[in-house]
Amino acid sequence: MFRTKTCGELRLSDVGSEVTLAGWVQRIRKMGGMIFVDLRDRYGITQIVFVNEHDALLTEAASKLGREYVIQVKGKVEERASKNGNIPTGDIEIIADELTVLNPSVVPPFTIEDESDGGDELRMKYRYLDLRRNPVRRNLELRHRMTMEVRRYLDSLGFLEIETPMLVGSTPEGARDFVVPSRMNPGQFYALPQSPQTLKQLLMVSGMDRYFQIVKCFRDEDLRADRQPEFTQIDCEMSFVDQDDVINTFEGMAKHLFKELRGVELTEPFQRMPWADAMKYYGSDKPDLRFDMKFVELMDVLKGKGFSVFDNAAYIGGICAKGAAHYTRKQLDALTDFVKRPQIGAKGMVYARVEADGNVKSSVDKFYSQEDLQELKKAMNAEPGDLILILSGDDAMKTRKQLCELRLEMGNQLGLRDKNKFACLWVVDFPMFEWSEEEQRLMAMHHPFTHPKDEDIPMLDTDPAAVRADAYDMVVNGVEVGGGSIRIHDSELQEKMFEILGFTPEKAREQFGFLMNAFKYGAPPHGGLAYGLDRWVSLFAGLDSIRDCIAFPKNNSGRDVMLDAPAALDAKQLDELQLALDLKEEK
Ligand code: AMO
Repeated sequence: MFRTKTCGELRLSDVGSEVTLAGWVQRIRKMGGMIFVDLRDRYGITQIVFVNEHDALLTEAASKLGREYVIQVKGKVEERASKNGNIPTGDIEIIADELTVLNPSVVPPFTIEDESDGGDELRMKYRYLDLRRNPVRRNLELRHRMTMEVRRYLDSLGFLEIETPMLVGSTPEGARDFVVPSRMNPGQFYALPQSPQTLKQLLMVSGMDRYFQIVKCFRDEDLRADRQPEFTQIDCEMSFVDQDDVINTFEGMAKHLFKELRGVELTEPFQRMPWADAMKYYGSDKPDLRFDMKFVELMDVLKGKGFSVFDNAAYIGGICAKGAAHYTRKQLDALTDFVKRPQIGAKGMVYARVEADGNVKSSVDKFYSQEDLQELKKAMNAEPGDLILILSGDDAMKTRKQLCELRLEMGNQLGLRDKNKFACLWVVDFPMFEWSEEEQRLMAMHHPFTHPKDEDIPMLDTDPAAVRADAYDMVVNGVEVGGGSIRIHDSELQEKMFEILGFTPEKAREQFGFLMNAFKYGAPPHGGLAYGLDRWVSLFAGLDSIRDCIAFPKNNSGRDVMLDAPAALDAKQLDELQLALDLKEEK
């Protein structure tokens, strides 16, 4: 037997027993005639002691060990003289009788400690070493437990886990596809799925009734902290359901996960906020509701007093930062610089402090009387000690988005975005379409299979931009952790939708003929949702980036620096695929 125990399980009750452990050398300390080795495996760390008096040769051999050597040690469990309360095995140590070096190690490029000295890129390059570190390994353990709980929950509700292919045709999810050339079909390409959207709908036509899959999805889009080019969805679809059925089922799953994995009992139903309200009050379709600081529109209050910036604005909105009147001029200037950064793009920021005596002092005092400012205070529901921050602009939607960034920044600065606090909500009633400047046409906001709200269907002909959809996102702490919709199951309505989206009948047939055909054979009403597994895990683990809960993630340029992928193909492979490259010169 390689080992009789792991490095995490020995306790005082094991004192006196003979054990064999195997693992990696974490640390070596030499003290007089003794050598102490911290032996590590996935389960923990156990202290091994080599005693010169007990076995000089063995102690000599131990002195040659280095960090990350893989060794096997046989010995006797003893109670420690000086106990270590920080680790579960801290009451005992092993007095070594035998040592086998199973594999030596060169010096690792960074320290394998909770706080490593390795930078991001270096740790990505040696990800297999990074994964030896506790914090990273713990994230993968959490991820495992989450997928187990998801399966348990969905299985208990009769969902079937069904795999769908990875080599498919394009799915219209709005991002670019990753494509795979086909050797047997020269000049033709598969696409890797952006999601199994159409396939899961076909499974409903097949009568599978309740489907789920923990599935890799691929999207060639710009990366952010919460986006990877390949990521994992908990993808689900249900037949004979309406929006409430889907929402209730997956709210139940969210609550189950919170309880099992975070020990948090969420008893209240999650708030449901119409998309229009989310935009109006928070400037975002994924508001962080861990704190309030709702937008207040101030057009009536602040226009017409001779301050031209406001007088010419299409939108003026304010937020009230409770208890932040102590902000210094320097802090307020820094906030102004923050909103003026090109990524945010505001032209400036106006502030007003409510002083202890109730008077309001603002950065635009010369345009507004104290009476005007008292009106502002009232509109903002502000009290002594509060700070009012105001943005304006000639495009209401853009200004709201800027105010959203300011609100989140204030949330950060005032410590209101505690990672151990959770605010969950559903954003519902999304618009069916959004205007694409790039394409100069209406695009599906969710995807083209989303069902319009029944009462809005007549507007498809008259005012499509005003049509709302049976689409919903779940948002936790300002992160979109999932989204879905009720689908169109009627081929005529589906055809109409393609028409509005600018597909010619031929193009629609070419891309989605398989789906529209299938709908002619008795498609049940159906709907579903997909959760982003990576986002859930990082939320529960309190991570800043989903990268840290993925075993082998890509870096910010979409590269796997460990595998050095993507890479050029050699001439033979290109030849077999009958592909010739015509790379454009780097500009
Ligand atoms: P959607 O595109 O909203 O819906 O994706 C569902 C969820 O997947 C996660 N997600 C991502 N996670 C990491 N990296 C990415 N690049 C990334 N993109 C999306 C998000 C998101 O909420 N087929 C539909 C679902 C449906 O209608 O049933 C779909 O894919 O958490």
